[in-house]
Amino acid sequence: MRVLVTGGAGYIGSHTVLTLLERGDDVIVVDNFANSSPVSLERVAGIAGRAARLHTVDVADEDALDAVFTEEKPDAVIHFAGLKAVGESVAEPLRYYRENLGSTFSLLSVMQRHDVRTLVFSSSATVYGDHQNAPYREDGGFLDAANPYGQTKVMIERILTDLAQADPTWRIALLRYFNPIGAHRSGLIGEDPRGVPNNLAPYVAQVAVGRLAEVGVFGDDYATADGTGERDYIHVVDLAEGHVAALEHLRAHAGVRAWNLGTGRATSVLELIAAFERASGRPIPHRVLPRRDGDLAQAWADTTRAEDELGWRAQRGIAEMAEDAWRWQSGNPQGYETAR
Ligand code: NAD
Ligand code: WQD
Repeated sequence: MRVLVTGGAGYIGSHTVLTLLERGDDVIVVDNFANSSPVSLERVAGIAGRAARLHTVDVADEDALDAVFTEEKPDAVIHFAGLKAVGESVAEPLRYYRENLGSTFSLLSVMQRHDVRTLVFSSSATVYGDHQNAPYREDGGFLDAANPYGQTKVMIERILTDLAQADPTWRIALLRYFNPIGAHRSGLIGEDPRGVPNNLAPYVAQVAVGRLAEVGVFGDDYATADGTGERDYIHVVDLAEGHVAALEHLRAHAGVRAWNLGTGRATSVLELIAAFERASGRPIPHRVLPRRDGDLAQAWADTTRAEDELGWRAQRGIAEMAEDAWRWQSGNPQGYETAR
């Protein structure tokens, strides 16, 4: 299959491009490197023994994207490109709506013009907001996120649902990721956030490698086993494999449908820190701080639908996630930029 991957140089995109290349797909990447480095794709090519074809294009630039489709003639698209920092979206809502919705409108117009109607969309468990208790089910009620970033995902899901209802030839998967962490087992590609990480796992990894001093634990007074927040962490390679399962499902099924991509298991902040201490063999200094605004106590997936309909289930546990993340971080203390 010839798959065009927007945002394919990013954290999840690079792991998915590798999975596609390794199974023999012909892969095209469209990325403007707003939040990634070309080194990730160079490393992917080294691991796979073959490269994706890269177009350094802003997905929102419809003319440039149209030229890519004319040249490459993809069969399907995986749409990762977009901004994803929750806190930043609260401070800059217009930028998030313009970027995430604008790039999606551009992509859909070009896909329609080129009669490419198979799409896998990067959604997020954030769409569930705090309107249902865990485990979250795809049909568990209305979607309403607690921040502008999450609302862009809710809106794009709505747009894609209306599109598929208006034109039943569309084949669309809405993949709601829980908390992707970890890295490819080679340690050559991984999560490389710019600036101080917002998310727990990369923050813990950077403390372990000595880039940061200590982990702030945002609250230990939640109604959970150890009082700290519980999340459904999923290995990024399991996530990549979930995208392949969704692409295969769309070959035989038209329409639009959402699937949770999680493990169905919850892990607390303290448990994740302990997993990284075991993986790194180092103590990881941490201190309890007040809760972070907007945080939920618990969030994890009901994974039944993806197992039953996609034939996909996460295979890797927390220990492997921490070990693989540590191999990447210890081998690349400053991420990609200084790796040239
Ligand atoms: P990332 O920032 O590492 O990757 C996004 C990629 O898209 C980057 O390479 C960036 O340069 C590129 N990009 C951004 N805007 C672009 C544009 N206009 N044109 C071309 N390229 C553009 O993020 P990620 O963690 O890999 O996430 C990928 C997708 O998955 C995002 O849509 C994100 O919202 C979603 N998601 C991520 C998480 C998570 O925790 N990482 C969870 C749920 C959903
Ligand atoms: C996990 C747990 C924190 C940092 C976010 C986005 C979501 C999605 C995934 C894009 C929570 C605690 C965190 C720290 C801490 N991204 N924590 N100290 O908030 O579940 O989800 O990333 O789609 O949209 O909301 O992930 O890693 O930020 O937090 O104690 O320095 O770790 O309170 O319990 P979250 P996270």
